[in-house]
Amino acid sequence: MKNNKPPFETTTLWDFPTQNYGDRPHGDNKFSGVTPAFIIWNLLQRYTKEGDLVVDPMCGSGTTIDVAKELNRRVIGYDIAPYREDIIQNDARSIPLEDNSVDFVFIDSPYSDNIKYSDHRSDIGKISCEREEFFDELEKVAKEIYRILKPGKAMAWLIGDHWRKKSGFIPVGFKLYQKLLKYFETVDLICIARRHQTSNTPVWHERARRFNFYLRGFKYLFVMKKPKR
Ligand SMILES: C[S@@+](CC[C@H](N)C(=O)[O-])C[C@H]1O[C@@H](n2cnc3c(N)ncnc32)[C@H](O)[C@@H]1O
Repeated sequence: MKNNKPPFETTTLWDFPTQNYGDRPHGDNKFSGVTPAFIIWNLLQRYTKEGDLVVDPMCGSGTTIDVAKELNRRVIGYDIAPYREDIIQNDARSIPLEDNSVDFVFIDSPYSDNIKYSDHRSDIGKISCEREEFFDELEKVAKEIYRILKPGKAMAWLIGDHWRKKSGFIPVGFKLYQKLLKYFETVDLICIARRHQTSNTPVWHERARRFNFYLRGFKYLFVMKKPKR
């Protein structure tokens, strides 16, 4: 890590050992489901310039806000349950911004009902990915992202798959990707190595052997753009 900056990624496999880089916090690494800050740093390097407007419709502990501000981008962070004062309370299925007004969107949505983010009844993280409704609600968010993005501009969506004892493997990433293809063109698909997930414990490794399933080793980062026409 040079000058407190994470490495500029040049392949489609991104791996960074810690949630944060540098000597200042980016988001809160105690927040359950916090996004690794190096992901947002790399995306902003490639798809934005200084002064651009960056939006995160589900911004959790504010990682996108912290990284974007440090890089002199304008930024708006929304969440259904704001964790800090600079996050605006809003449901991602209806974003209070004009059509074609945003330069870049980053989103790390719930992956299912595995994490309790809040008691808010509109929290999409209360719906299991075993139900089609989960993907229908995420599609409403995708449609809003499409509406607010300027034509030709990019968005990136981070998501992971699930394995449940009862239902087995649930291809959350592929199912969301199918929905996203209705609106966006693919720029690239990136694999994010999962290093510090809560299941990286001896108990979980033992369960994976005993019940013959795999612990999730990666997440998908879908980088897509709104077509110009
Ligand atoms: C994986 S976390 C985001 C983590 C964040 N990027 C960070 O670094 O801290 C997902 C977030 O989605 C929010 N969320 C769930 N349903 C929502 C909705 N309908 N509208 C807006 N935010 C929602 C949750 O409150 C939670 O903070």
